[in-house]
Amino acid sequence: MAAGTFICCSLRSARRLFARCHNRGVQRMFSSATHQENEIELRDPTLTTANFQSRTRLERLTGENVVPFSAFLTDSFGRRHNYLRISLTEKCNLRCQYCMPEEGVTLTPRGQLLSTSEVLTLARLFVREGVDKIRLTGGEPLIRPDVLDIIAELKKLEGLKTVAVTTNGMNLSKLLPKLRETGLDLINISLDSLVSAKFEFIVRRKGFHKVMESIDKAVELGYNPVKINCVVMRGLNEDELLDFVQFTEKKPVEVRFIEYMPFDGNKWNFKKMVSYQEMLDQIRQQWPNLERLEAGPADTAKWVTGKLVPISSSL
Ligand SMILES: C[S@@+](CC[C@H](N)C(=O)[O-])C[C@H]1O[C@@H](n2cnc3c(N)ncnc32)[C@H](O)[C@@H]1O
Ligand code: SF4
Repeated sequence: MAAGTFICCSLRSARRLFARCHNRGVQRMFSSATHQENEIELRDPTLTTANFQSRTRLERLTGENVVPFSAFLTDSFGRRHNYLRISLTEKCNLRCQYCMPEEGVTLTPRGQLLSTSEVLTLARLFVREGVDKIRLTGGEPLIRPDVLDIIAELKKLEGLKTVAVTTNGMNLSKLLPKLRETGLDLINISLDSLVSAKFEFIVRRKGFHKVMESIDKAVELGYNPVKINCVVMRGLNEDELLDFVQFTEKKPVEVRFIEYMPFDGNKWNFKKMVSYQEMLDQIRQQWPNLERLEAGPADTAKWVTGKLVPISSSL
């Protein structure tokens, strides 16, 4: 699933976050087609392989390194969607209360799921259209037996700059050396509480120590920052917001506070939701000098406190 609004905190890496936001724009030079031009190209039946062969676009390309960006991946606001998430499986070894029913979900017949080669074919098509970052998610992506092969093949795709994984961290520490070897660039680990019993209540399984071990291992292997996803829920972990921010002082991690989102099966209750504004207000009480980061339209990092604490939010 794609989480909605979230705030991201790290006490250690304010400067790096700024730098990353600015760097994004220069990593790949795209042609500057307007929305209207994209629309025209999409409607023109003679332009079957679309945008890349479009004369309108080519005429616009003056710099040698400028690569045209897919009209299909440019939305009606002119935003270029260069970031693709692929769900590798719907299976999971946890049962987070906000995500899955206790009994799990009805599994799709195997034949209807993407095979290894289908995942790679799709990835290749999107990368050809301009996607330069792919995140593998799920369910729990690291329980898919071919996950290492998929990452290894993705890393061979020319134009793909970043391969990321979002994981619950249960199998991560033992897989990490191999993931590192295959070239996995970024890791997001979900962790909703720093209190073992509470964590295990939320995910309905044991394994707090495994997640913490995974975080340490990721740091040890040089992932920096390791990103922590934390879904904030009223009456459960909202009291840990500041502890999470402080956690970033001790380890090179960034914490993303995610608004709890409704979906069928998680018994959505508006009262459980802590809004982005509420989170921001709470953090501001401790770190009052909150500033908005300068960021591009696709950037998720948007807030920084004082000298040290970057905090971000994005829909
Ligand atoms: C669906 S999980 C898949 C990857 C992996 N199993 C994990 O938990 O990191 C991806 C992210 O979605 C978040 N998520 C799941 N259900 C959510 C909900 N109802 N509201 C907000 N975020 C949610 C999880 O916390 C996790 O960070
Ligand atoms: S670990 Fe991820 S996929 Fe599994 S139940 Fe929790 S949020 Fe959902």
